[in-house]
Amino acid sequence: MVNLSVQLAPKNLQGLLLTNPVMTSAGTFGYGTEYSHTFDIQKLGAMVCKGTTLKPREGNPQPRLAETASGMLNSIGLQNIGVNALIKEKTPIWASWRLPVIVNIAGESVDDYAQMASQLDGVAGISGLEVNISCPNVAAGGAEFGANPDSAAEVTTKVRKATSLPVLVKLTPNTTDIAKVAVAVTEAGADAISLINTLKGMAIDLNKRKPLLGNITGGLSGPAIKPVALYMVYEVAGAVDIPVIGGGGITTASDALEFIMAGASAIQVGSASFTNPRAPLDVLEGIEQFMQKEGINNLTELIGSARR
Ligand SMILES: Cc1cc2nc3c(=O)[nH]c(=O)nc-3n(C[C@H](O)[C@H](O)[C@H](O)COP(=O)(O)O)c2cc1C
Repeated sequence: MVNLSVQLAPKNLQGLLLTNPVMTSAGTFGYGTEYSHTFDIQKLGAMVCKGTTLKPREGNPQPRLAETASGMLNSIGLQNIGVNALIKEKTPIWASWRLPVIVNIAGESVDDYAQMASQLDGVAGISGLEVNISCPNVAAGGAEFGANPDSAAEVTTKVRKATSLPVLVKLTPNTTDIAKVAVAVTEAGADAISLINTLKGMAIDLNKRKPLLGNITGGLSGPAIKPVALYMVYEVAGAVDIPVIGGGGITTASDALEFIMAGASAIQVGSASFTNPRAPLDVLEGIEQFMQKEGINNLTELIGSARR
């Protein structure tokens, strides 16, 4: 038996102990219930639920998805049921699971994030918060909160004050120096960092001679972004002393192992679930097989091994 367990919030009183490093990423696995008929999702390390906002959102105009070479563009626009319905309808189900559930939160203002963090604090069925700072900051003319260290730190500080739950801050790749943002959110009290969110992109419909997505731009995900994500995980893991959760284009166990060797303590499987709903479990089983084959007893031996 190999030991796959990992502690993602060592500095937090509640901690965030996962039995294995495989997580699902926000917006690609619904609320978990949608996938429970495809495999035993309780075997995973943790689930991150759909991005949640203060008020329910209908999302962006259609079309909202486009296939690209080795990836996809999406402009869902955070369609979700809102934090009140999440607490009422989803958390009682999660409270009966052994799978830790992390709620991904998104806001238009710093106060949005803080209010959600305080509402979700102490609710049974929630093991942590993942703060999506890839959202436009309305007060700052729509620049992403995560694009600069100061606004990223401001959101983190407010969320940290509002909750005792482990706080994971999810970084955007749409910035010039991601390591600087990582250091700023670490100093502001993040327990762990996850990365990367989607890269901004677009596509044109030749027949209409217009942008293909209703929102004009969207987020690129899938295998196309893996080398970028891996590089950013490597950079960030070298810059901070808190756990890093890596993701972006992970489709197989080999992809996941690359992120772990680059310094990720855990990994997230996202778009891969759309083509193979069992992808997170396949990744987990593949990591286990690799460790058995290589005679590695503890996952910690692999974390950051490419850096040493
Ligand atoms: C359809 C779709 C919806 C997403 N929704 C969210 C979201 O609500 N919050 C968030 O932080 N990330 C969201 N993401 C980003 C993913 O969680 C992930 O960070 C990104 O897709 C890169 O990983 P991947 O290449 O494995 O998909 C979404 C991605 C997709 C494809």
